[in-house]
Amino acid sequence: MLTGKLVRLRALEPSDAGALYRWNEDPAVLQWMINEYPDSLAQLTKRLGEERPRNTYDKLILCIETLADRTPIGVIALTDAEPENGRAELDVYVGEAAYRNGGYGTDAIRVLCRYGFDQMRLHGITLWVVPENGAARHVYKKLSFVEEGRERERFRRDGRWYDLIIMSVLEGELVED
Ligand SMILES: CC(C)(COP(=O)(O)OP(=O)(O)OC[C@H]1O[C@@H](n2cnc3c(N)ncnc32)[C@H](O)[C@@H]1OP(=O)(O)O)[C@@H](O)C(=O)NCCC(=O)NCCS
Repeated sequence: MLTGKLVRLRALEPSDAGALYRWNEDPAVLQWMINEYPDSLAQLTKRLGEERPRNTYDKLILCIETLADRTPIGVIALTDAEPENGRAELDVYVGEAAYRNGGYGTDAIRVLCRYGFDQMRLHGITLWVVPENGAARHVYKKLSFVEEGRERERFRRDGRWYDLIIMSVLEGELVED
């Protein structure tokens, strides 16, 4: 169910802490992510260990790993799912730089959207993206996410304001490969 052509999505393990810590320091990841304040490696290890709640309908956070050799390469999440409206919000990053632009992000998003529609019975999946994030916008459009609107100067990074574009894909619209 959570396996695509290039990736498998699985729950995060305490052993992923080192990779997450490294990814969360990479400016290419940080640049467009709406981050919380930095965690130490010790805090991350704890958060992924005994403190970690089970994945649930309204908070599903998964590790993206390669199907070929099970290398953890990123994180993808569906959160704030509303059963009444069948909506949830998607977040994704490919943290392992060597795997960016290799089709892994597209595959991971497709797998999680398919899971959202088929298993969680969602009707739509929403996400937010900065207009300047060309790679992400390209991937979302390719999968048939549609731009629905823009919040002006909604996101601040390095002393500059950026707009945020809202995009969504509805049940039945996802482009399969
Ligand atoms: C966005 C992201 C998840 C995409 O994952 P990925 O594995 O690199 O994506 P893929 O390899 O599947 O696809 C990348 C596509 O974008 C295209 N692309 C790359 N840079 C681009 C740019 N600057 N402008 C437009 N398109 C671009 C590639 O050509 C490729 O298109 P194609 O498959 O049609 O040839 C990844 O780049 C990432 O994690 N970025 C940093 C964090 C981030 O921005 N997260 C999203 C926040 S909304």
